[in-house]
Amino acid sequence: MRRVYMDANATTPLLPGVMEAMRPYWMEHFGNASSIHIHGQQARTGVDRARETMAEFFNCHEAEVVFNSGGTEGDNTAIFGMLRPGDHFVTTAIEHSAVLQAAERVALRGVETTLVAPLPSGLIHPADICAAIRPNTRLISLMLANNETGVLQPVDEIGKIAADAGVFFHIDAVQGAGKVPIDVRGIGCHLLSISGHKMNGPKGVGAMFVRRGTPIESLVVGGSHERRRRAGTENVPGIVGLAKAAELATSSLEDGTIERVSVLRDRLEAELLRLPGTSVNGVGEGVTRAANTTNIWFDQLEGEALVIALDLKGVAVSGGSACHSGATEPSHVLMAMGLDKARARASLRFSLLKTATDADVDYVLGVVPQAVERLRALSPVEAGTLG
Ligand SMILES: Cc1ncc(COP(=O)(O)O)c(C=O)c1O
Repeated sequence: MRRVYMDANATTPLLPGVMEAMRPYWMEHFGNASSIHIHGQQARTGVDRARETMAEFFNCHEAEVVFNSGGTEGDNTAIFGMLRPGDHFVTTAIEHSAVLQAAERVALRGVETTLVAPLPSGLIHPADICAAIRPNTRLISLMLANNETGVLQPVDEIGKIAADAGVFFHIDAVQGAGKVPIDVRGIGCHLLSISGHKMNGPKGVGAMFVRRGTPIESLVVGGSHERRRRAGTENVPGIVGLAKAAELATSSLEDGTIERVSVLRDRLEAELLRLPGTSVNGVGEGVTRAANTTNIWFDQLEGEALVIALDLKGVAVSGGSACHSGATEPSHVLMAMGLDKARARASLRFSLLKTATDADVDYVLGVVPQAVERLRALSPVEAGTLG
């Protein structure tokens, strides 16, 4: 059976070039990057080169790059590392749980949080962030691209708002990295987090931009790695792989690959919308989306049932964020956008790999209408009553 993976926002496979770049660092250049001898020097060279690549990727200085274990650690570090009792924190209702759960944790320590709601389109209105700022606001955290809808948030405008108010600004760029260019200097943010495995790099490795002078406390303490900002022996193969993935991501943005993905996504979406009782979540005035993502509502269906039916036909999609699949709660992102529970549950995310092909889209388009029709025939619910 043919298999088509359209769940790239959950994770992505390594590109062959990434695997090749990492390979020597598992066995040949296995040294500890802190060791003085030749083995240590080889590992250190790998980390140093990776840092140069990441500095270019972020448009920052090499000393402002901190390697870590991924997006969750980056988001946690920004929040736990910046906020103290009595501070006020502004974030949004559509963030990843790595931000939302950290906000709940700091609330127990006396940090007040304002969760800004999105517009029905999924866009965060800059004026709503501005209105949430108080004299004691210390940090704003906002995602670059939403993992469920792909909606790109106005980080440039919010960067200006944060600068005017004298508030630190963290961007969760886990789903934006590799899909849109990142320019931390242009945005004027203080902190930004990315993750290797969402951009064809390895799992369990990520990086943060930490603007020089940002008074952040490290989450992990021990040795003096990463200029005392993140202790622990460096994951050298992972770091080298992350940098290679970033380099390839930049090429994909420049050589038309990402544009090609958006054409494929648009065709998939347009064809799926020809089915009766469907619509897209995450569209509206002023909305732009990451090239690879579409989130579609199918009237009369349980999203989970459709995920399983499609899996049996070789198509991998998701009903929301991977961290929540299996849970019966509908997506907090779609609910925050104003969808009711039934409609949120009847929505599926299709997220294309950058290696997706026309044949992949054709295959999915051959499978989805039949699966939808079959499940609707079995559904005891009358058309339209889930809306
Ligand atoms: C927007 C966003 N932030 C953070 C994370 C967590 O990243 P990681 O899996 O690297 O811990 C994810 C993963 O799904 C995400 O989509």
